[in-house]
Amino acid sequence: MDISSTSGPLTTIEADWLIVGYTATDSSGELDAPLSDLDEALGGAVSRLVAAGDLTGKLSESHLLADVPGLAAGRLLLVGLGAPGKLTSRKLEKALVSATRRASKSAEVSAAIALPQLNSETISDTEAMSLAAVALQVGCVGQGLYRAKPGRHAFSAATVVSDVEGSAEAVARGSVLGQAMNLTRELVNRGAMEVYPETFADRATAAATECGLECEVLDENRLRDERMGSLMAVAQGSVRPPRVVVLRHNGGGEGAPALAIVGKGVTFDSGGLSLKSNEGMKSMKCDMAGAATMLGAMTAIAKLGLPVNVIGLAGLVENMPDGNSFKLGDVLTARNGKTIEVLNTDAEGRLVLADVLAYAVDLGAERLIDLATLTGACVVALGEEVTGTFSNCDDWSQAVGSAAKQAGELAWPMPMDDLFGDLLKSDVADIKNVGPRWGGAITAAKFLENFVDSTPWVHMDIAGPSFASSNKPHREGGATGCMVRTLVAAAEGLA
Ligand code: BES
Ligand code: MN
Ligand code: ZN
Repeated sequence: MDISSTSGPLTTIEADWLIVGYTATDSSGELDAPLSDLDEALGGAVSRLVAAGDLTGKLSESHLLADVPGLAAGRLLLVGLGAPGKLTSRKLEKALVSATRRASKSAEVSAAIALPQLNSETISDTEAMSLAAVALQVGCVGQGLYRAKPGRHAFSAATVVSDVEGSAEAVARGSVLGQAMNLTRELVNRGAMEVYPETFADRATAAATECGLECEVLDENRLRDERMGSLMAVAQGSVRPPRVVVLRHNGGGEGAPALAIVGKGVTFDSGGLSLKSNEGMKSMKCDMAGAATMLGAMTAIAKLGLPVNVIGLAGLVENMPDGNSFKLGDVLTARNGKTIEVLNTDAEGRLVLADVLAYAVDLGAERLIDLATLTGACVVALGEEVTGTFSNCDDWSQAVGSAAKQAGELAWPMPMDDLFGDLLKSDVADIKNVGPRWGGAITAAKFLENFVDSTPWVHMDIAGPSFASSNKPHREGGATGCMVRTLVAAAEGLA
């Protein structure tokens, strides 16, 4: 779905749904720009609503007016944006996605969004235009992949209305970001019966061709040659052979430093012989969200033509119990030569990432970010909406943190003291793959640190925010596409 940008009086906008944001009216009851224009054309209908106290501008308050005389649009949906100047991108996103979700319930519907000047210190008007485009893309896609009646429908036409300078570029950018998030969401929402290492790699290859990324797929023979013994051990209990996907965006020219983005791609995590409970397993098609986030972000980075070199890597395996599964007590040798004692086959994500991180370092990455649905412990620590970040480099950690802030996504740094690393000492190997119960998100990160050398690295544990357990007015349940925008912002920050 393409999104156009247009300017002009709101009364002339032809759309089935015209979504108009407005900030809270002050005591004078004076309306802000798009609303005041509408009011005039509509013979004071809007000011009467204000006078009656029905239209206060409270955040996410909404009013639907249908068949308004004098309006080309079929429906007018007024969306409150809170006090002027106080708006944040997260609040704006919530308000706009709620609106686009509402408008996309029927098929063959067109939608337009118009926003007032925000005068906000935290979000610029062009950022708001981008966000409107994101909302149009993301809000009209749900979890209906396998339903006869999908529940949400792509808009037949989608428009952002604005006179702000640079709004066309901003809308185009938001559209790319929204599409990237939808790619990530779709891959995560599809079941493990169709998304497994080979099919994920096929999908990545197709996406790469479409947006001009270089793509290489390493099969099981190549992975053996590359000494990825840790990753291969996880895969060996499954009938699905493992894959590693390597994508390249060469926007920075030769010799420019490369950022590598590494994603955990466990296409299904049964726990292996350390089998999960039914409750614990039922959402584990989501365990490749890190890889899908990497892929979404890489497509956006390519489409936006960012002047940086970025390598995207996905470690793809299925973790299954089987006569051939890797076992407790097995000692694995990772690509960088370190030996790992396996004491829980359900701590498999770190085993996959170990080899792919080491491979990324060997490819010459000078900055690393990995994304993984790595630990339930991180969800216990930070809840379902905040990504945990873990790093070996304060500067890089702060850079990624401000990228998240700029992208309007929640991320929070966790301690990485060596005392946590000490908890992974093994009696028989260099390290073991699990620590004690407490601090599990941090010991997992300390495990990964063994495989990045001294490369500045940030690990993002997205076990909570990447997959939502229920629908909310402002977002569909299932895959969220979180951190796609943060990755793009982090890559931009290196340009
Ligand atoms: N994929 C899971 C982590 C997870 C949990 C993701 C909940 C999304 C939601 C991971 O492979 C796992 O099983 N981690 C174990 C680690 C433990 C065995 C040390 C966990 O969190 O229980
Ligand atoms: Mn697991
Ligand atoms: Zn897992």
